[in-house]
Amino acid sequence: MNSKNLSGKVAIVTGASSGIGLATAKLLAGQGVNVALVSRSKEKLERLSRELPGSLAVPADMTKIPQITRMIKKTREHFCRIDILVNNAGQGYDAPVEKINIGTFRYIYDLNIAGPLVAMQQVIPIMRNQGGGTIINISSGTALMHLPDMSTYSSSKRALAGISMAARQELKDDAIVVSVVYPYITVTNFEKNTIRESPQDNWEQEDATGPFPPDSAEYVAHKILEGIISGEAEIFAHDWMRNRGDLDA
Ligand SMILES: NC(=O)c1ccc[n+]([C@@H]2O[C@H](COP(=O)([O-])OP(=O)(O)OC[C@H]3O[C@@H](n4cnc5c(N)ncnc54)[C@H](OP(=O)(O)O)[C@@H]3O)[C@@H](O)[C@H]2O)c1
Repeated sequence: MNSKNLSGKVAIVTGASSGIGLATAKLLAGQGVNVALVSRSKEKLERLSRELPGSLAVPADMTKIPQITRMIKKTREHFCRIDILVNNAGQGYDAPVEKINIGTFRYIYDLNIAGPLVAMQQVIPIMRNQGGGTIINISSGTALMHLPDMSTYSSSKRALAGISMAARQELKDDAIVVSVVYPYITVTNFEKNTIRESPQDNWEQEDATGPFPPDSAEYVAHKILEGIISGEAEIFAHDWMRNRGDLDA
């Protein structure tokens, strides 16, 4: 795919109400892509759809399979095709292994892996019938690291990357390109929305720091667009992230 032939394509962007998903939806709409805007926040999506020509608000909780099914069906009925799926909706969970709440663990795995997997399963036959498509799964730089207190989140993002790379091989003969994007720390509501097991772990703005300055959501959206266009297997927010071992604390 090149940027010229993106116009008129149909993309689903999950987590389009905030942060990276919002910036991606805006960037794609600016390229003439018709975007299905997905998240739980119906009103925010409807407001955004009035701003973005050709877009459609399709509220869905990505942890609930019937809602994912309804979202894909509605998107297909409205646009008659689905060319691109950006599995971006996700949430963090900070807790040491000893204190992980299994209910919260399951919720995070439902949102960060099972939801994207079900969305993939449902768009694959549609894309195959159309002669191809693009699936971009948003992982995280933490998937490349072993960070204390982030085992649930980072392992969910590692699993998502693993599923993506296997699917990439399984689907290559169908011209369905599956890629993974690894954002670095990005200025969004992510830290604020991260679930924390210990009350003393309440998030402060200065917590969201790393060895390099954080990226903007718009920067990551451009990386996602690059991934859609290039079809590369793995897209890193920064080249230095390729040296995974260097990232460990
Ligand atoms: N920010 C970072 O530093 C960073 C770094 C690496 C990777 N990431 C990944 O980037 C992705 C986007 O995160 P962000 O930074 O943009 O965070 P964000 O600002 O908190 O946005 C998260 C998005 O996910 C949606 N969402 C959350 N739970 C959902 C559910 N159950 N069903 C449907 N949608 C749901 C939210 O919408 P509603 O609340 O409206 O449902 C929102 O649109 C995530 O997968 C995250 O893990 C972020």
